[in-house]
Amino acid sequence: MISVRRVNKLLLSASLSLVIVACGGGGSATSKQSSSSSSANTSSSSSESSPSSESSTSSSSSSESSSSLSSSSSSEPTAPSLYTLVNFPVGMAVSAGNESRSFLDIPAKQSTIQQHFNQLTAGNIMKMSYLHPSESTFSYGNADTLVNWAETNGLTVHGHTFIWHSDYQVPSWMKSYSGDFETMLDNHVTQIATHFAGKLESWDVVNEAIDESQPNCYRNSLFYQKLGADYIANAFRAADAADPDVDLYYNDYSTENGSASSTKFNCLLQLVDDLIADGVPIDGVGFQMHIQIDWPSANDIGAAFRAIVDRGLKVKITELDIPVNNPYASSAFPQYSTYSDEAAQLQKQRYKDIVSTYLDAVPAHLRGGVTVWGLWDGDSWLLTLGDRAGTDDWPLLFSGPANGPYEAKPAFYGVEEALSQ
Ligand code: XIL
Repeated sequence: MISVRRVNKLLLSASLSLVIVACGGGGSATSKQSSSSSSANTSSSSSESSPSSESSTSSSSSSESSSSLSSSSSSEPTAPSLYTLVNFPVGMAVSAGNESRSFLDIPAKQSTIQQHFNQLTAGNIMKMSYLHPSESTFSYGNADTLVNWAETNGLTVHGHTFIWHSDYQVPSWMKSYSGDFETMLDNHVTQIATHFAGKLESWDVVNEAIDESQPNCYRNSLFYQKLGADYIANAFRAADAADPDVDLYYNDYSTENGSASSTKFNCLLQLVDDLIADGVPIDGVGFQMHIQIDWPSANDIGAAFRAIVDRGLKVKITELDIPVNNPYASSAFPQYSTYSDEAAQLQKQRYKDIVSTYLDAVPAHLRGGVTVWGLWDGDSWLLTLGDRAGTDDWPLLFSGPANGPYEAKPAFYGVEEALSQ
């Protein structure tokens, strides 16, 4: 099953590349490369935030542009285009639709994205409640606008996500659904996958199904309560049936610590091995990678990637961000109250190490790509998340102000240096 999917997709990918070469580029729409297939010390949990809480723009991030950042970046060369350095997707998560800071409302954001990235992920608007607000209503307008913009400008789209437990985006009608839950959820996936069939590069089919504190590893979500672990395999099968050529990922956080003692990582392997053993059409594993500046180690991250590669699956970094402060670090580790040169260089090295680890551990044919979760520091979801709320830890690759121009930070050059290796 898996190998047949892969052969079909490789053929499709090869023919797409030929078409692009034959067209000879020209214009921004065709000049983009085709993608490869076209806690203490835990990562941040994603269930704590809500879209409404992100509506304000961080003033601390805005003022950052006047900090010592400019001195550290002024010694850097002019920012080159990131995606042209490699032949896998280099992606950006965006707000869109009615969200604040929608990239469609900010021309400077569009041009910076076009310059450096060749894939988009919707930060919110392709989640369950947005696309399927009532049992009989699917609402595709905002997502279609995003997908059309991407297509027009030569970017691919990674879909995020058919199924996620997080309370704010499980449609309320689904929570009180009294009919056949399995049929309903299959239809949810089938309808959405069918709508976007042929238009997306990949999907996060199921997001965050693992809870390592549960004896059997499965999160006790609405979906698990109704259907047991079968809902995961069912979703992959429904998506595959509706869109056989799109890449299908299982996506989660805190799975990038591939040390043998990591309970969550072992849960991930169990889940993936069970899907493979059952012939479920999974193409890859998405590692969110909302990681810390000092944890997990690059070695442990490499081990996690290699374990997935050993299973013949693609590896995709789906939501990368790296704040300069780890609130859980030992007191010996520095905490920065300004984005100093020292903090900027530390972050640059960390971004570089992560991308280098990805390139070292994942062979070219299994690279699903690297996506950063927001363009500039004021975009970051971490500004409103749990322990971090109200604190700017400068997690992203660019600085503001909110409407641009955006300035590439040393972190950007860390990514650029790694991608150039
Ligand atoms: C986040 C969005 O960025 C926020 O705007 C929203 O308030 C909460 O969700 N893991 C995921 C993403 O898979 O969907 C989450 O996105 C971040 C963590």
